[in-house]
Amino acid sequence: MRILAIESSCDESAAAVLDSREGLLAHELFSQVALHRIYGGVVPELASRDHVQRLLPLVKTALAAANTEPAQLDGIAYTAGPGLIGALLSGAALAHSLAYAWKLPTVGVHHLEGHLLAPLLEPNPPTFPHLALLVSGGHTMLIEARGVGDYSLLGQTRDDAAGEAFDKSAKLLGLPYPGGPELARLAEHGRPGRFEFPRPMLDRPGLEFSFSGLKTAVLNAVRALGTPSGIDQANIDKADIARALQEAVVDTLVGKCVRALEQTGLDALVVSGGVSANLRLRERIDKAAARYGARVYYPRLEFCTDNAAMIAVAGLARLEAGERNGLRIAARAQWPLEDLQPPKNSLNIQDISITS
Ligand code: KG4
Ligand code: ZN
Repeated sequence: MRILAIESSCDESAAAVLDSREGLLAHELFSQVALHRIYGGVVPELASRDHVQRLLPLVKTALAAANTEPAQLDGIAYTAGPGLIGALLSGAALAHSLAYAWKLPTVGVHHLEGHLLAPLLEPNPPTFPHLALLVSGGHTMLIEARGVGDYSLLGQTRDDAAGEAFDKSAKLLGLPYPGGPELARLAEHGRPGRFEFPRPMLDRPGLEFSFSGLKTAVLNAVRALGTPSGIDQANIDKADIARALQEAVVDTLVGKCVRALEQTGLDALVVSGGVSANLRLRERIDKAAARYGARVYYPRLEFCTDNAAMIAVAGLARLEAGERNGLRIAARAQWPLEDLQPPKNSLNIQDISITS
């Protein structure tokens, strides 16, 4: 089976072509970062309008790069939620229009299921059951994944997501949007020990997170420093704060992952979502998992943040199992992960284990 996939849940427009035997044939992405940067965050209306302009050319480029004619496709997958409703509708409407014209079935994919299944694109894919840490700009979740669509939420954030802790702290440090990767780069030059931020809820039992207090800790640190004596001192201060913030987030995530491994007895861990691109997080998770004897799986760096390849994996799993959307355009701003059901026809994980 060969499918086209479209992602447009937030500020990335993307298209991909995935073949169940030949692997990932093409993936194209346009990031709207420059469009939103002057506003310091994503402007939903601008995002929707830009998706409308970008998606069709991306689809054409992806099909050409995959050397694929529409007649060779067996279906179209698109992100149906959760996300910005206008942005989702842009992708969903295009997917349904193409599917109608090309007489193809469609399937609406849950964006987070895309993130969870992204590591299946790698040479050494995870098997089920496994523990998953999903850390993105909007979500921080620990999940027991027993199979495609068979997820139990073990714990999640009560307020800000891990990515938000990075982004909001970055804003306080005057870094440009999107702040997470910028803050991580700055943290590499920071010295350990100068600032100590809380490890939220690590001292309490359970698998819940809370990151909203960290931005206040960063704000207090910035205020306490007052006006730096010069540009060099300002850069040193920022780097030290960035390092302390990153350590606090990473420590908390690693601590809860180990706790979840202990509680579930699972010996495999998938880490995905935008924040899984953070190299310090990967280093610390690898160490902790090795001590615990668990295997760890990540998407490659470019598939940690939003992309259409991961939507193609989830879409292929569901289309291959016979799932179909019909003509109804599905787009949901809110869509709890636990509402997902496993595909009706039981799937052998090997059938969708696409290495490319
Ligand atoms: O998965 P994603 O692209 O979008 C959502 O579905 O939310 O995640 C984006 C989030 C942003 O908060 C961004 O700052 C964060 O992932 N992020 C990072 C890094 N790269 C992306 N955070 C920390 N370190 C990074 N290297
Ligand atoms: Zn995402």
